[in-house]
Amino acid sequence: MTRTVVVPGSFDPVTLGHLDVVERAAALFEDVVVAVGVNASKNRLFSAEERIALLERACGHLPGVRVRGFSGLVTDFCTEIGAGAVVKGLRTAQDYEYELPMAHMNTRLSGVTTLFLPTSPEHAFVSSSLVKEVAALGGDASPFLPDFVHDALARRLAERREQQGG
Ligand code: PNS
Repeated sequence: MTRTVVVPGSFDPVTLGHLDVVERAAALFEDVVVAVGVNASKNRLFSAEERIALLERACGHLPGVRVRGFSGLVTDFCTEIGAGAVVKGLRTAQDYEYELPMAHMNTRLSGVTTLFLPTSPEHAFVSSSLVKEVAALGGDASPFLPDFVHDALARRLAERREQQGG
């Protein structure tokens, strides 16, 4: 029986779309571990510690949810914590095409099953990268983020602008 599931992602930063998936997973499973990938490969706006802290605050109202960082393979992390499944949100058919080979690979590697949860239609176009682009170019990203994440994003973008000399 699967009590523990893993919701992996980069969460740079967490959006309302991510939270929708975590809330749906929390309604189905006793123990939901939101797993923040800390592999150094991608260029992140927020550090692993910052992404984890924002997620912990965003998930604070969900008693069955904990947030952990992981490095290496998501399958190894699932084995380490005894998780029976990976949960991924699907926004579009493109998400499915991107996620399906990873789901098969993860099953082949460790036997772990991936469960796909459709996101709410109102979040179907929300991604961290789009939200960052909108905010960086002066658009209003607040409808897509928890308030404190929107504040953190505004502060980080202002810091970056200062570092780059205005
Ligand atoms: O939010 P993202 O960027 O789509 O999340 C990607 C993440 C962290 C879930 C993915 O890159 C991942 O699982 N990384 C761990 C490395 C791994 O297991 N790779 C093989 C996947 S088949």
